[in-house]
Amino acid sequence: MTSATTLLFFVIHLACIRAGNSSESFVKLECKTEYHGVYGQQLILECIVKPVVVDVTIITVTWKRMGAADKADDNLLEYHKEKMDLTPGFKFAEPSWNKKNMNVSLLLTNTKMADKGAYECMVTTDVGIATATISLSVTAKYKTPTMSSIPVTNIKENTDVTLFCNSTGGHQTGLIWWFDQFGSNWTRSAELVAKETDDGLFRLSSRFTVLKATSSSTNYTCKVLNVNGAKEGMASFVIKFVSRDLGRKADHLDNLSTTKWLTPVVVLGSLIIVLLAALLLFKRRSAQRARRQSTFPLMSGHQTDNMHDQMLGQKV
Ligand SMILES: *[C@@H]1O[C@H](CO)[C@@H](O)[C@H](O)[C@H]1NC(C)=O
Ligand SMILES: *[C@@H]1O[C@H](CO)[C@@H](O)[C@H](O)[C@H]1NC(C)=O
Ligand SMILES: *[C@@H]1O[C@H](CO)[C@@H](O)[C@H](O)[C@H]1NC(C)=O
Ligand SMILES: *[C@@H]1O[C@H](CO)[C@@H](O)[C@H](O)[C@H]1NC(C)=O
Repeated sequence: MTSATTLLFFVIHLACIRAGNSSESFVKLECKTEYHGVYGQQLILECIVKPVVVDVTIITVTWKRMGAADKADDNLLEYHKEKMDLTPGFKFAEPSWNKKNMNVSLLLTNTKMADKGAYECMVTTDVGIATATISLSVTAKYKTPTMSSIPVTNIKENTDVTLFCNSTGGHQTGLIWWFDQFGSNWTRSAELVAKETDDGLFRLSSRFTVLKATSSSTNYTCKVLNVNGAKEGMASFVIKFVSRDLGRKADHLDNLSTTKWLTPVVVLGSLIIVLLAALLLFKRRSAQRARRQSTFPLMSGHQTDNMHDQMLGQKV
């Protein structure tokens, strides 16, 4: 083949590509086909445009989530000739993406359960079009359970105690297993309730009643498992019995508080008694004095009053 015919072939080939669907040979889109996202986290669906020729300009990028069955596709990101149309929660992974940037990866800023499905990325360049599809599954894990008891504290020996073990965040119904401190499995005696929350996640609440609980076995453990039986979290709880020691301490505290309010009462009481005694003594003395005064006629009340007036007059 001469170089002229080679060139002709090339030109014809190029013309075909420009006209038809086989344009993909001049630009390829390389994406990982499967992703496993985690609820509440960021996720990048990576797609890179791989042009066969140099200096390619991107004209259009569309990212959509394909609708299942009777549902329409969701356009998540649309770039067309400098114009960008974004759905909240989705954007180019490259912060300052431009038409010369071949990294057209999509960033999910906060992955939700509803984001699972098939995604399509389509790129139009000045040398051709390329399309790729990606499938995304989303998982969510149960959080470390929280435990509580009824009654809460000061539990007496041989009372029935109801324990709770709650956990949220799983993407499917899970299981909760119960064990005591000796490793005995009490799961059969427990009752599990699973509820789907608004965000498509589950809330587990398991209830286990310890019949006639005694302080010889106080520590109970619950384990949260996902639907596949893998452990996702566990917690332990110690039943708060009234201990003998605590009882004695409480008595002591009682005594202390009694003396606390008793002391001022005693002090105040004795003070009042002393005052009363003083008053009585004073009254008795003045009565005696009055009797004694009445025996001296010269020093009668009238005379003293006159003397007092005279003295006042002198002062004025
Ligand atoms: C594409 O961009 C994203 C976000 O900046 C980055 O994490 C990823 O590594 C890039 N991929 C390539 C192949 O450069
Ligand atoms: C667990 O759930 C039960 C029932 O919904 C509730 O009564 C209990 O207070 C919860 N306990 C904790 C620690 O959240
Ligand atoms: C605990 O008991 C439950 C219910 O009987 C059972 O399904 C589970 O396998 C047991 N777990 C262990 C570790 O024995
Ligand atoms: C209760 O039991 C669990 C598991 O056996 C253990 O990890 C935890 O330390 C115990 N808690 C107390 C307060 O003894």
